Amino acid sequence: MPVVAVLGAQWGDEGKGKIVDMLAEKASVVVRFSGGDNAGHTVINHRGKFALHLIPSGIFSPLTTCIIGNGVAINPAGLIEEMDHLNQRGIDTGRLFISDRAHIIMPYHILLDGLEEKWRGGKAIGTTGKGIGPAFADKSSRLGIRAGDLLDRELFRERLHAVLDYKNAIMAKVHGIEPLSFDDVYNQYCRYGERLASHICETTGMLETAVRRDETVLLEGAQGMLLDPDFGTYPYTTSSSPLAAAGSLGSGIPINRVRGVLGVFKAYCTRVGGGPMPTELTDETGELIREIAQEYGTTTGRARRCGWFDGVAARFSTRVNGFSGMAITRLDILDKLPVIKVCTGYSLDGETIDYFPANIAALQRCQPVYEELPGWQTSTCHARCLEDLPTAARRYVSKLEELSCCRSSLISVGSAREQTIEVRPVL
Ligand code: IMP
Ligand code: MG
Repeated sequence: MPVVAVLGAQWGDEGKGKIVDMLAEKASVVVRFSGGDNAGHTVINHRGKFALHLIPSGIFSPLTTCIIGNGVAINPAGLIEEMDHLNQRGIDTGRLFISDRAHIIMPYHILLDGLEEKWRGGKAIGTTGKGIGPAFADKSSRLGIRAGDLLDRELFRERLHAVLDYKNAIMAKVHGIEPLSFDDVYNQYCRYGERLASHICETTGMLETAVRRDETVLLEGAQGMLLDPDFGTYPYTTSSSPLAAAGSLGSGIPINRVRGVLGVFKAYCTRVGGGPMPTELTDETGELIREIAQEYGTTTGRARRCGWFDGVAARFSTRVNGFSGMAITRLDILDKLPVIKVCTGYSLDGETIDYFPANIAALQRCQPVYEELPGWQTSTCHARCLEDLPTAARRYVSKLEELSCCRSSLISVGSAREQTIEVRPVL
């Protein structure tokens, strides 16, 4: 299977990092195709424990080429820091390429992210504050600065002049803050450009070659389907698409070359930031899951909201992404629970529905309809094949498959690479 997308199927933080890190060993190329350093992937492998934000999780496989695709918004300071950190720990970043079409996060994006959140008051989205929303808004408004622009100083000077005057006016007149100095921003970003110059290039050609040679290419998603601006809980979403289709758009690989779409589902649900989450548990069970799983954000350290597996959302996710298989992660977190619930439908204003409403006021009113399954109350972290799992855990896996309308390919029972059950091959 030459081109396979690996995507978050819920609200992000499903454990894509581990899955991509594992699969990358067999891949020629790994491409990140959306999001920015709002994403945080924790990877634990033979080289140690790493928190990645922008660099594809394939960076640990010495023969794999890593590409930050055109669909990503890049904070150059963050990227350089991430590269330095990896280099210090002996990980080579010479095989990292950055699409010259990728947009760059500028200082005003980060400032405006915070100011706009403040403006929203009680309706704040709870963004990661990384400037992602304002950067993607500028991309659509044709006010963006792209990675390639940093390599052409005259072009960059011209672009920045036009944009910064406008941004400074908004910051001063709407938000009452000091303008940014053109020279400071220009010089700083020229330095970033110099540092990243050997990595920034046209990347669609190398992807075309890899695809033509039938090499394995992984499209690495960020965030999760329910944060998609179209199909997620808008406006409580991120600003670039985490969907399978975005894998093509954000890399330049034609859609008909994508052969597999692996949906990564956590065995329960989490969400960080504001917005509806029908199966959220605000009681001690939610707290117990958060503590066992250490559900705190990789990027912001915020406590994640925890809840039961949402079958309605899962089915919707499969519908719009066309998952060819699912990876179920963190099954071991449920090991101690005597009873596990799964949401099979929503009750909305007295009526049972089986779809995920677009209207967030309606979604807020949805009460989950639960089915209770017996827990297994034994450790699963040593399981390496389906037969190693207790019967109740296998029954739980089958229930998730049934609700998600998708068969499992991988089941993860711990953070180490070997703590994985391969039910059917992904690649
Ligand atoms: P933004 O992407 O920083 O604009 O944040 C918008 C929403 O998406 C907020 O609720 C964030 O918490 C959420 N979000 C963004 N990136 C991630 C991620 O990688 N994992 C989980 N939630 C995320
Ligand atoms: Mg994350």
